[in-house]
Amino acid sequence: MTVSVDDFKKALQLWASGVTVVTTYSEKFGNQGMTVTAFSSVSVEPPQILVCINDAADTGAGIDESGYFAVNVLASDQQYVSNQFAGGSSQAQRFENTDWQAGSKGTPLLTDSLMSLECKVVDKLKAGTHQIIIGEVHNCVCRPGEPILYYRGAYRQLDVE
Ligand SMILES: Cc1cc2nc3c(=O)[nH]c(=O)nc-3n(C[C@H](O)[C@H](O)[C@H](O)COP(=O)(O)O)c2cc1C
Repeated sequence: MTVSVDDFKKALQLWASGVTVVTTYSEKFGNQGMTVTAFSSVSVEPPQILVCINDAADTGAGIDESGYFAVNVLASDQQYVSNQFAGGSSQAQRFENTDWQAGSKGTPLLTDSLMSLECKVVDKLKAGTHQIIIGEVHNCVCRPGEPILYYRGAYRQLDVE
């Protein structure tokens, strides 16, 4: 049995997730970042996470070049940041309206995000149109706030009592 693209997309829309901006810095490409919901924890010891990055994404080329990246989990008031990093504007413009500071490897950390993980690339796997990039986390920064969520193709707020 083969699943149709439409059925597959509809099914995946029922997966509620947080929203991240994956950032990187390299001498060749400078600061780069893109919106990513395909993020998961992998292992606690060693501390590893993964992100899935489309082969066509410029930011993926930057991560390959740098060997380092950060995952910034967006806060409830950062829908505009998600939109800004989802394409349509240059990499320089994406960072213009967002506060950030360079992490230990120069990787931009979005300082208004809920959490930033600084990672070193330890493995990569080609899967369909994407690369699964596994990162070992060497620094975590947690900040106060609530996350923004993505569900059924729309941004949502967590209803916290
Ligand atoms: C809510 C949302 C989630 C996204 N998740 C992913 C993802 O997990 N992986 C991916 O490769 N692209 C994802 N994208 C698309 C990229 O953010 C978009 O293609 C971006 O422009 C790539 O940037 P670049 O080519 O300039 O690096 C997502 C977009 C949105 C709006």
